[in-house]
Amino acid sequence: MINEKRAWWKEAVVYQVYPRSFADSNGDGIGDLNGITAHLDYLKALGVDVIWCSPFFASPNDDNGYDISDYRAIMPEFGTMEDFDRMLEGVHARGMKLVMDLVANHSSDEHRWFIESRKSKDSPYRDYYIWRDGRDGREPNNWGSVFSGSAWQYDETAGQYYLHLFTKKQPDLNWANPKVRDEIFDMMTWWCEKGIDGFRMDVIGMIGKENFDDGPMAPGALYGDFGPSCMHTETTHKYLREMRKRVLDKYDLLTVGEAGGGPEDAIRYSNIDESELNMTFYFEHTDGLCDHNELGKWSDHGSPLNEVRAVMNRWQTALQGKAWGTMHMSNHDQPRQVSRFGNDSPLWRVKSAKMLGTLLHMMRGTPYVYQGEELGMTNIYFTELAQYKDVEVFNAWKQWVDSGRVHPQDMLRWLAKIARDNARTPMQWNTSPNAGFTTGMPWMPVNPNYLSVNAESEVNDPDSVFNYYKKLIALRHTYDVIVYGEFVPLLEDDPSVYAYRRVLDGDTLTVMCNWTDRNAPCALSDDSQGEELISNYPDHKPGFLFPYEARVMLKRK
Ligand code: GLC
Ligand code: CA
Repeated sequence: MINEKRAWWKEAVVYQVYPRSFADSNGDGIGDLNGITAHLDYLKALGVDVIWCSPFFASPNDDNGYDISDYRAIMPEFGTMEDFDRMLEGVHARGMKLVMDLVANHSSDEHRWFIESRKSKDSPYRDYYIWRDGRDGREPNNWGSVFSGSAWQYDETAGQYYLHLFTKKQPDLNWANPKVRDEIFDMMTWWCEKGIDGFRMDVIGMIGKENFDDGPMAPGALYGDFGPSCMHTETTHKYLREMRKRVLDKYDLLTVGEAGGGPEDAIRYSNIDESELNMTFYFEHTDGLCDHNELGKWSDHGSPLNEVRAVMNRWQTALQGKAWGTMHMSNHDQPRQVSRFGNDSPLWRVKSAKMLGTLLHMMRGTPYVYQGEELGMTNIYFTELAQYKDVEVFNAWKQWVDSGRVHPQDMLRWLAKIARDNARTPMQWNTSPNAGFTTGMPWMPVNPNYLSVNAESEVNDPDSVFNYYKKLIALRHTYDVIVYGEFVPLLEDDPSVYAYRRVLDGDTLTVMCNWTDRNAPCALSDDSQGEELISNYPDHKPGFLFPYEARVMLKRK
């Protein structure tokens, strides 16, 4: 039996808000902080404990706020510092907590530090970023950026190349410079003193660059992989331990690293020895499954049960007794989970959205709900390039389609399935024009299915995805076995059913999820598993699960 230490952030459920698309309070078509404040009662009703807000800081929005030009100012489109203070007060008044996004691997090229840095080699800010001379008239090494193209950009004024692992408007900060660490830690302390309750740390596994050697090239790849030099290095762990001592340990925070990597990395980032972070996200069940060729995430590879289950079970068991984890299938970088892993046809959308919610919320790790997931929101299925907004899409198009390597129809099909914009369409609040998101012209089109998929009708419908999520969240708050129980995989080769147990002090929770649109034989589906805690079907058939049926049974000692 595993004896877990109790912690509020293990018992909590987190809700992710993407401010630009959540709620617009002033009719300019862009979601804002006052819009969030206006919907705090909705989040309280859902029952979540913590709100993680994607970045709301000053930014030229090359990557929707993940390119920050002033870490201590609010993006004017989102409101003012007073609006932030009111939002934080509103969150706390309802007994919830607020986690901010810490985007400190890189800043915007419009940050004062970078503007100074590029001016001359003697600038006191020069070493805030990573500048290198070219090699034989070309980039300093072969690294490719996450968003296509080289990871290096030549700067005329500076007379050197600078490193950007993301877009060229996101230069990487040089964490090796102690002044940079001082700046970041001071800024974090400043926000903690304002009262925020934690940090989600953007691509934190990349902060410790250990060398600048050429990276390995996958067959057919255009650029080398910076991973071996930049990802999950000893240096990164050293910086995180320093951050822990100098900032995090002084407050009672939730800290979650967007780190990725394998379980062995997570065990270091979020070890129970509490030397670094509380928990980390992993992406092997999302990005990892399709990432089989030189095109990376752009592929027809879907999410078959056997692959998803193998990854998720491996993570569940590997972290047990060693580290704390997280549970999610969607966020602002992923398509909608019901479209990707479930079935978003009108016939099965509600059932399969509930099934996926059950699978995630009964597992070990803190669950993260991405805005609209609790309504079963779906992909938007754009058909033309011009409909997209995301810089990742345009860079990938340039690299693969414009160069003649990929047929436009193939790319459009992949985009419709996995582009990040699928998760960034406005939140669907009600049946009024633009789903009640804005009275103006929304920055992204609203999914036309908002007449049937929206918060107002779901809150009032006892059978909705919303009310099912509400129940899932309440169950986690009621039964220790859901938070602290040992994870035991079941039926690991079953072609249709994902099943597992959680065990604590003699209590046994059995979770069964039919991943298909057909009846599935299931020997566990009978009354011997105890009392039913939740299911997405009113009736059951012994020995079978209905299409997308989810059932959770509890047997007490
Ligand atoms: C993270 C963010 C993503 C952003 C990237 C660069 O992966 O979640 O939205 O584009 O980092 O900051
Ligand atoms: Ca607005």
